[in-house]
Amino acid sequence: MIKLGILASGRGSNFQSIIDSIKNDYLSAEIKILITDNPDAYAINRAKENNIPYVCLKMSKSKSEYYEMVVEQLQKNEVELVILAGFMRIVARPLLDVYKMRIMNIHPALLPSFRGLHGQRQALEYGVKIAGCTVHFVDDGVDTGPIITQAAVPVYSDDTEDSISQRILALEHKIYPYAIKLFSEDRLVIYDNIVTILNEIKSDDKLFVPTQKIS
Ligand code: GRF
Repeated sequence: MIKLGILASGRGSNFQSIIDSIKNDYLSAEIKILITDNPDAYAINRAKENNIPYVCLKMSKSKSEYYEMVVEQLQKNEVELVILAGFMRIVARPLLDVYKMRIMNIHPALLPSFRGLHGQRQALEYGVKIAGCTVHFVDDGVDTGPIITQAAVPVYSDDTEDSISQRILALEHKIYPYAIKLFSEDRLVIYDNIVTILNEIKSDDKLFVPTQKIS
């Protein structure tokens, strides 16, 4: 059973989708700790409701001191995989080194397009007709690490930032647990920044109805 550490700053709906995936036996994992930088994060309520230990580490010191504290918490809890779930900060050393290619992030756009904040709004303003989300490993760039999985949704002419965000979020909640499951089953191989999925299940309707059929 893989031991997870979750970093979240806000609502925590992706955190919740991981909790639910464990509860319904899709994912064989244990969430050892939630680390947040925001004492008002709704994610804390989710941790409490599910008896998941949490700690709030406010960003007060230098970046490297901050991430030293984060690493200390993760190691104390024997975390094997770090999950950024709406963590609104750029991750830095020593966390990046200690958990090299063992940190995942979810981004609400089809990378490499629309990196950074407000991926959904950027996509809408660009006028793309297909939007989506990406789970990737974290490296020292912003939303640049090796891509693990993606899912797409159509963009309609009357979409607003809110409506497209909701449509994307529904898929985020499916592909994040899927990516963690692949990692926990040792099915992700990274070579030259490309992720290969071992024993990948293929499906023609992956574009709009992505990974929920895969279990
Ligand atoms: C999601 O849209 C995710 O893609 C982005 O931040 C948001 C977090 O939402 N990285 P939540 O806190 O998981 O509900």
